Amino acid sequence: MANSHEKVERNVGLMAVLIAVVISFGGLAEIVPLMYQAEAVEPLPGVEPYPALELAGRDVYVREGCYNCHSQMVRTLRFESERYGHYSMAGESVYDRPFQWGSKRTGPDLARVGGRYSDEWHRVHLINPRDVVPESNMPGYPWLEERELDGRSVQRRIRALQRLGDPYTDEQVEAVPADVEGRTEMEAVIAYLQGLGRHAPRAQ
Ligand code: HEC
Repeated sequence: MANSHEKVERNVGLMAVLIAVVISFGGLAEIVPLMYQAEAVEPLPGVEPYPALELAGRDVYVREGCYNCHSQMVRTLRFESERYGHYSMAGESVYDRPFQWGSKRTGPDLARVGGRYSDEWHRVHLINPRDVVPESNMPGYPWLEERELDGRSVQRRIRALQRLGDPYTDEQVEAVPADVEGRTEMEAVIAYLQGLGRHAPRAQ
């Protein structure tokens, strides 16, 4: 026994391999159970796949890189839930691919922003944030008002999600182009923002 120990300690390559094996066991023990834990993969009651307009808005949110300044995860710390609302639950974001939790907060967390402002406030704010928050350093996104959604493209994205297992019905997929017809990217982002936190448990 003492002998084999000596062998490992004198052979850096072998030691590195053995260390990797030990660490990966630790990793597996932490990660694998999570993949099967119902609360991490089951939607919270009432959580449904995004309606077409909100999904389109979510894609604009990702495209514009809003996540570079905004997280969408209220941590389980008292000062966070007092500021934003109930802490985030895994079951709220089972239909978020990819999820937008993040940790970069140049601006406030947005997980509970739905319903906090009117649609009109968001419109003015997104065109030029300083019109409503004079000290804001958030960039404006005026082009969102000029760009119309492409119904077929949104439909393809929803069909892809359906294939991945999101429970959209075929009727819902068929209706997508009509749902988003003539709507702008601005309307889509606002619909998405107004839906954030809709399924949050009530604040403690
Ligand atoms: C460069 C960093 C930055 C980027 C990028 C950014 N924001 Fe912001 N955002 C901020 C800051 C700072 C504030 C706080 C001041 C304000 O309200 O404008 C803010 C505030 C907000 C608020 C109000 C939140 C609240 O609770 O009062 C919303 C909604 C918002 N941003 C949405 C967006 C969206 C949507 C995008 C992408 C289209 C975006 N932001 C991109 C920095 C950013």
